[in-house]
Amino acid sequence: MIDLRSDTLTQPTAGMRQAIAHARVGDEQKGEDPSVLELEQRAAKLLGHERAIFLPTATMANQIALRALSEPGDEVVAERQAHIFRMEGGGPAAHSGLAMKPLAGLRGVFEAPALSAAINPDDPHQARTRIVCVENTHNGGGGKVWPVATLRDVTATAHDRGLSAHLDGARLLNAAVALDVEPAEIGVLFDTVALCLSKGLGCPFGAVLACSGELANRAWRLKFLFGGAMRQAGIIAAAGSYALDHHLERLAEDHANARTLAAGFAAAGLPVDETAVETNFVQIDCNRLELSRDEVIERLEREGVRISIAAPPGVLRAVTHLDVSSDDVLRAADLASRAFSTRVAH
Ligand SMILES: Cc1ncc(COP(=O)(O)O)c(C=O)c1O
Repeated sequence: MIDLRSDTLTQPTAGMRQAIAHARVGDEQKGEDPSVLELEQRAAKLLGHERAIFLPTATMANQIALRALSEPGDEVVAERQAHIFRMEGGGPAAHSGLAMKPLAGLRGVFEAPALSAAINPDDPHQARTRIVCVENTHNGGGGKVWPVATLRDVTATAHDRGLSAHLDGARLLNAAVALDVEPAEIGVLFDTVALCLSKGLGCPFGAVLACSGELANRAWRLKFLFGGAMRQAGIIAAAGSYALDHHLERLAEDHANARTLAAGFAAAGLPVDETAVETNFVQIDCNRLELSRDEVIERLEREGVRISIAAPPGVLRAVTHLDVSSDDVLRAADLASRAFSTRVAH
């Protein structure tokens, strides 16, 4: 089975398991875990911030950032398919008492004028618009990379209008590799940056939240409040440092594999926009097929290829990652040809 459902499926490599086995650990809550401290220092530098805080998940990193930047009754703006709105259980409302204002975007990207128009006037009848959240790369947008110029405009507009800017950079390193820029170049534009270790980087779990020292003090308290303060967490932080050493540059391979896969799926008659493949996601638009999403999933699964549902209605996704080789994507494309040997497109 070639499993392309998500880049969260990776198994720790032999090297990563060695790093885990030999990790130096201590009580993280007391600031005594050397592997956690090392990862936090590296992550802060990588993301262009003074400090970084190690957390169990990117969901927690996002939610702690929102809480640190707001007061109950405030409003957070993000693209309508943002992970924080769609996939975090209503967290902004439940954890921080935030109103959520979704913006229409193009594959997850919106422009500064749209943000400006969404900011409520200074009127006590209305929620204070306090945070803009950007997701880069954008999961629902098919791994879409935000142009740096757009990020500059959006964050400058936010700051000019008194908002904070949070980056859900679960896949920020995919964006940086695709653009060939330092992650810090993007990270510095934001007040808070969440980076996930368990996607393309291939760790079992874990995330970091990077920000200024003052915000980090708030986030450190919130880490305890949210139940994310751990003990010998260096077991996992060591996997994070290993991944930064060994799995960052290779994200380019995942992107190349996604392009090959997109071409193969398109040749098999599946409606794939090859030009939209910027990182490790390939989207299949079943709205242009005579088959439903479930039928496409079933046909591929019968041949030994697993894919999953994407955020936009009627769209499926295939995601490349550490455990998918260049041979695997060629084989997946062959199997797709077999699955769709009869013409399926309108
Ligand atoms: C864009 C984005 N943000 C945040 C997350 C949450 O990551 P975690 O599973 O570590 O909570 C995900 C997970 O898929 C994601 O795609």
